[in-house]
This record gives sequence, C-alpha cells and structure tokens, in this order.
Amino acid sequence: MSEQKPYYITTPIYYVNDAPHIGHAYTTLACDVLARFKRLDGFDVKFLTGTDEHGQKVEKSAEKAGIDPQAFTDQVSQNFRDLAVSMNFTNDDFIRTTEERHKISCRDIWQRLLDAGEIYLDSYSGWYSVRDEAFFGEGELTLGDDGKKIAPSGAEVEWVEEPSYFFKLSEWQGRLMDFYNANPEFILPLTRRNEVTSFVEGGLQDLSVSRTSFKWGVPVPNDDDHIMYVWLDALTNYITAIGYPDTDHAEYQKYWPADVHMVGKDILRFHAVYWPAFLMAAGLEPPKRVFAHGWWTNEGEKISKSLGNVIDPLELMATYGLDQVRYFLLREVPFGNDGDFSRAAMVQRMNGELANDFGNLAQRVLSMINKNCDAKVPEPGDLTDDDNTLLSAVDGLLEVVRDALDVQAFHIALEKIWTEIRAANSYIDRQAPWTLKKEDPQRMQTVLYVLAEAIRQLALLAQPFVPEAAGRMLDQVAAAEDARDFSSFGEAGRLTPSTELPKPEGVFPRFVEEESAP
Ligand code: MSP
Repeated sequence: MSEQKPYYITTPIYYVNDAPHIGHAYTTLACDVLARFKRLDGFDVKFLTGTDEHGQKVEKSAEKAGIDPQAFTDQVSQNFRDLAVSMNFTNDDFIRTTEERHKISCRDIWQRLLDAGEIYLDSYSGWYSVRDEAFFGEGELTLGDDGKKIAPSGAEVEWVEEPSYFFKLSEWQGRLMDFYNANPEFILPLTRRNEVTSFVEGGLQDLSVSRTSFKWGVPVPNDDDHIMYVWLDALTNYITAIGYPDTDHAEYQKYWPADVHMVGKDILRFHAVYWPAFLMAAGLEPPKRVFAHGWWTNEGEKISKSLGNVIDPLELMATYGLDQVRYFLLREVPFGNDGDFSRAAMVQRMNGELANDFGNLAQRVLSMINKNCDAKVPEPGDLTDDDNTLLSAVDGLLEVVRDALDVQAFHIALEKIWTEIRAANSYIDRQAPWTLKKEDPQRMQTVLYVLAEAIRQLALLAQPFVPEAAGRMLDQVAAAEDARDFSSFGEAGRLTPSTELPKPEGVFPRFVEEESAP
C-alpha cells in the first residue's frame, strides 16, 4: 500500500478557568469532522486538543475557587476531556500545558529565541487584560460606563509596570508579509486574512513575553523571577505534542508543519502573527493554515456568564441528540461567519433535514426492500437515464465534499450532500416503486437498488458529521465494517445483490415539543 499522507489538525487549547460551553464544543467539532473525513479519505491523521492551564486568569480562578492551581486545573481539565468523549470527538491526544513534556518544550523554544538574539530584557509599562491574556496600546482601548478602560473584547484592562523580556516582533513585519504573500491561503476565510495583513502592515511593536507579578506558569530558563507569557507557552503546545524539542522525532518529522490550526476569530492574531513569527525566529517552519471561525450568539444575544445565557453542550445533546447538534452547528452558519443559536432553527433542521429528508429516504426505501425484496439487496436490471443521472451525481459527491472541506466549508459540504438526498427523494416520487410493484416488479428492483446504493454513499459521506446515525444507516444496507472508508466510495463498493439486510429502523428521530403541563 502506498504511504498515507499525514494530516495534522489542532484545536486551540482551552482555558481551564471555566466549564466547557458551546464555543469550545464548536471549535473541536469542526476539527473532529475534518479529522474523521481525512481518515476515511486515506490520510494518516493526528488530531490534537487539550487545555491551557497557566497564566494569571487561571491562577485567579483557582484562587477564587479556594484551591491550589494544580488541583483546580486537574479538575477543570477533566471536564474538557469528558466533553470530548460525550461529543464523540476522535482526538488522538489531549495535551495539558502543566505536563512536564510541555514545560521542556517551552524552555527549549525560549532558549532558541534567546540564542537567535530575538529576546531581550527590558521593562514593560502598559495595559494588560487578564481575560484576554493580552497587552493593549492606549489607542485600542475605550472607556466603559464606569470610566474604566476597556479592551476591544469588552474586558477590563489593568496597568502593568514590571521588568519583562521582549520578543523583537517589530523586526518581523517584512518577513511576515512575505510569508502571507507566498501563502495566500495561510489565513482563511479571506476576509480575516485582510484583517491580519492590515494589522501587520500598520507596524508591529516588540512583544512582552514574560511576567513577574505572578507565579503560575513556566519559569524563564535561568531567570526564575520571570514566568513565560502564557501565549508563548500555550502556542508551543502544537509542537510539544509531536515530540518537540526533538525535531528528529518521527511525529515531528511526519506532522509538522500542521495542516490546520482551527481557532475562533478572537484569537486569530496570536496564531497568524505571533506564532509564525516565534517559529520562524526559532528556526522552525510555520503552520500551513490558520482558519478563524465566527462566534455564536444565543437567540440573538451575546453569550456571557453575566447574562446567564451560556449554552451547555451537554444539555443540548440531552435535549436534541448528539448527531443532531453536530449537524446543526455545522449546517446553520457558513463556517467563518458569526451565527445565532436558536432552538426553533435547531428543531426545524433536525426535523426537516435529518428526519424528513434523509431519515425518511432511508426508511421508505429500506422498508420497501424489506417487504418486497425478501429483505435482500435487490437485483438491478438495465439502468435508465434517470437511474444513471442519480447514481453519477452521487458518485461525484466525494470530490465535491473533499474540495469543500479542504477549505473548511462545512456548510457547503452538507448543502451538496443534501442536494443529492433531495434528488434521491424526487427520484422515488418520479419512479414510484410502489406502483411498479404490481406493474413491473423487475423495474421496481432496479429502482430500489439504485436508491439503496445512493443511501450507502450518502451515509458514507455523512459519517464525519453524524457518525452514529450514519453508522446505523450503513448497518442497514449491510456495508461491511471494512467497506466504510472512501476507498469503497463509488463503483468500487457497489452493493452486492442478494446480500441479506437487517430490519430497517429510523435513525433520525423527530423532535416533538412536549405539551406544557395544564
Ligand atoms: N487558551 C486560549 C487558546 C490558546 S491556543 C494556543 C483560548 N481559550 S478559550 O477557552 O478562551 O477559547 C477557546 C475557543 O473557544 C476560541 O477559539 C474561541 O473563539 C472559542 N469560543 C469562545 N466563545 C465562543 C462563542 N460564543 N462562539 C464560538 N466560539 C467561541 O482562547
């Protein structure tokens, strides 16, 4: 077998100051779908997620909870691990920045930067937002109602004055611009790319990369008074997990540079400006792509703890079902845009697109086969133009979906799959196999074969998005366990007539509003 191509995809590592919410679930879900798709498509995938456990924000949260930071991070980090299991995420590793392997890695990248003359000691005085873990210039701030200064994210800033190491970011403007120009798809979507390039074109200032006013972090090598800036620490996780500082490590060799760092729009600058600059300055390659997705609001309102409208992914799953939530989040909003979560829209999509369009298609066809074809894959006769049109459109879908996912356009991938689901539904109505049953039973067999084959392929493609339901649909067309990756897509994996099929059952339940109590 030819060597599999590597594919390395990462989520941001999540701050452990709080319980996981819909935003965290969304970023990881997008990565999970890509990881699953690429595995089915023959790639050797590494999918990484984890938790960002150092810094002032986490230290303060631990203090507030009245526990020591290590015990606190152990607890909260576990919630993120549990979420990954509940949401059926297939991450290959889960990294915590408090692990020894990561501290070694941070010290090493620091040393490389120091040796390269990219870091110098000075002192910092300026504004810092603990919530963003970021420094801000006076010009970026606004005044809040109470007269306090506010960062663009809405977080309060505080004045910081302390000795600090600096990274010579100001010297990287030209090289970053060259890098963006040479790699036009490094930042997607393109609208975000423009935001980043104009920020860099506007001029860069040296970046403070150490703090002395708290202790919870990785100490700077040979200068214990300083703790490494939490973003330098956090970003380094992406290489720690593949064996760095051992750049000869088999995983590092195979997976670096990463194919995609998936991030939310709020943390794009760290990933698309600071991270490639740190890496290039340390003599390492920058990643291939950073994709910045948008933010969810809840029924039109910004999601915030103070408004009490945080969406708990576990509650959503319990109410609507896991596959339903996975589908909705990636279908509702063009990936990259902001989107609004609404329960009405959730129910409409799960009932209309999952239960009616896809679920009924399978249920109608498989029940007819069960009743009229002795519960076996029917034997097709000669194919008509109508049969061939449907089959070739479905056969062509893999390429279409692959192209969409290569630019992280989940909504387009789903739209294209659903176009063919609807085409299969109109084909049934046109061909009316229930009438053929009496008039032309051989033709009925052909029509049901074409449909069963379409269902097989649509389910193959739906697996990354709705793994549980698609798996059950594949069971119902008796697709062998080893015939569920994309090497069985198209003609290569056509259903074998006379194969016995299990009794069909619905895979996409409808959501029925509970009657309110009298
Ligand atoms: N720890 C940093 C990342 C370090 S990566 C080297 C961090 N963590 S976070 O927990 O605050 O946020 C993680 C992700 O959740 C971000 O990608 C952010 O965009 C996403 N979301 C948080 N709220 C969100 C919404 N309301 N909607 C969509 N995603 C949002 O940042």
